Parts: sequence; structure tokens; C-alpha cells
Amino acid sequence: MCQKKTSRCPVRLNIGVSQIQTKFTWTSGQDPGTEPFDVNASIPQQVRQSVDRSLYNLRHGTSPATGQAITITDAEQPYIDCFLLHNPFPTLVQTLQAWTTLQRYVPHSIRRLGICNASLPILQVLYLAKSVTVRPSVVQRRFHADTNYDTDIRTFCAENGIEYQCYGVLKSNPALLSSAVVCGLARESGTTPEVALYFLVMDLGSYVRVLNGTRSVDRMTMDINGLRFLKEWAADNQNEACLQEYRDAFAALLTRRTSPEVSTRLNSEVQEDILTV
Ligand SMILES: NC(=O)c1ccc[n+]([C@@H]2O[C@H](COP(=O)([O-])OP(=O)(O)OC[C@H]3O[C@@H](n4cnc5c(N)ncnc54)[C@H](OP(=O)(O)O)[C@@H]3O)[C@@H](O)[C@H]2O)c1
Repeated sequence: MCQKKTSRCPVRLNIGVSQIQTKFTWTSGQDPGTEPFDVNASIPQQVRQSVDRSLYNLRHGTSPATGQAITITDAEQPYIDCFLLHNPFPTLVQTLQAWTTLQRYVPHSIRRLGICNASLPILQVLYLAKSVTVRPSVVQRRFHADTNYDTDIRTFCAENGIEYQCYGVLKSNPALLSSAVVCGLARESGTTPEVALYFLVMDLGSYVRVLNGTRSVDRMTMDINGLRFLKEWAADNQNEACLQEYRDAFAALLTRRTSPEVSTRLNSEVQEDILTV
């Protein structure tokens, strides 16, 4: 994937890797000269080169114990759990070209496909287009008041069994983080506002996943432990009524923080997208 413009150092945790997720970023999101594909090639070729390189990087080479080459069976071929298209291309035709190239890797080399930063109309096309044989399983977007906290997209995801992965939960939401609701839940449960905000966002539905962007192993560990603790606190019947108050207050807060212009702007974005289609 390369994509230095936006890439970050992953935090290494000693808890094992449960999933490998990577993405294809087209030229405009890449640092010139570092693209993991030939920028002059066609979109399908660029996508193939990028995926093949990721799979090559995941290959089993030599045994760390003996240094000997490992012979692998078909069942042991490397695969990617989830592959995302980082952004829709400027046109829908190009986005579909990339998508239909990616879907040929499913299910053997890629298990699930997803898209980042796509609007609802683009998502709907990827869901309904005749050329699409593998529908998106994951949608990754910034969780933010400017986009109405993705209410429409989240509804679409919930209705269609799509995982909604959100980023920017802390970085893009200082007002939520310092709100009385979030700080109150943190205080009540003995956790931190960061953990309480992650919890309340994930609590919006079982299809919601939060991406944690810390570069600190200590913070990641504290967040994971804090979330486990808060989930246990939430499961305690004694806290049920109190938790429900926080849930309701958080839902009201999301509605209140949505700017009145947002709906109008979102609607016009939708119209533009439909015209592009
Ligand atoms: N698809 C896309 O277009 C896209 C765009 C942006 C991000 N992402 C993904 O989303 C992931 C999340 O990134 P984000 O920046 O949006 O994450 P975030 O969780 O909203 O914010 C992380 C920032 O908050 C700070 N922080 C302070 N206390 C923290 C705590 N208790 N737990 C976690 N962070 C804390 C971190 O600083 P320290 O590092 O000092 O802890 C870091 O600067 C990234 O890893 C990236 O893969 C995807």
C-alpha cells in the first residue's frame, strides 16, 4: 500500500494479530515515487500490482527456526482478511474498475472487501451494480458532526450487514470527548473519557467498530483494558438504568451537535453523486 502521505506507525501489541487489513490508495494519495504500482498502468493493473505486492509481503519464506525454505500447501497461501479501497476514484466508472478487479481475489487471497470515505450513493452502487459480484463488507469513514455522524450510512450498513469502521473518534470530536455525557460515564464507571467515548460509539450498534489511532502501546493497552472493564460494568444489572440514561443522552447529543446546514449539504452531495453515476 505504501501511501506515506497518510500512513502511520502501527502500534505493536503482544496480543497476537487477529486480522490483517490493508488498502489500495490511488496516485493522488501517494507520495510521488513511492507508489506500489506503475502509475502509468491502467487502474486494473495498478490494483493487481498493489494487491500482489501485499500478498508477496505476507508470503511464508523461510522458517525462523531453521532458516530453511518452507514448502507451503495451497491451504497455507497468504491471504488478506480485509482489503479496502482507500477512496472512491474521481469517477464511478473508475471506482467500479478497481472494485471489480479486487473482487476477483475473493475469497481465496482476500476474504472481505471494503471502501473508505465513500458517500451513500457510491456505496449503494457498489451494492447494486450488475458488475459487482462481491458486495462491500466494510465501510470506513470519519465519525464527525459535519457528516451528521454518518446517520444515513450507518443505517444502510446496519440494514445490509456491513461493518461500519470509524476513525477520528477522538481526534475529530473534542466537543464529544469533553461533554458532560462522556465525562459522566467515565466518572461513573471508573474509566477515562477516551474509553467512554469509544464505548458509546461502539454501543450505537453491533455493526460499529472504532479504529484507535494511538501510537503508544501503553495507551492502546489501557484503552483495551478500559473497554473490557466498561463492558463488564455495563453488563452488571445494577448499572442498567444508569447506562441507559447515558445512552439516551449520547444519542441526543449526536442529534443536537449536527449542524442545520449539514442535511442540506449532504442532500446536494447526494444529487451530485447521482448525476455522476
Ligand atoms: N480510511 C481513511 O481515510 C483513514 C483516515 C484517517 C485514519 N484512518 C485510520 O484510522 C485509525 C485511527 O486514527 P485516528 O487518528 O482517527 O484515531 P483517534 O483514535 O481518533 O485519535 C488518535 C489520536 O489521539 C491521541 N490519543 C490521546 N489519548 C488517546 C487514547 N487514550 N487512545 C487513543 N488515542 C489517544 C493519540 O495520540 P498518541 O498517538 O500520542 O497516543 C492520537 O494522536 C488510524 O490508525 C488509521 O488507520 C483511516
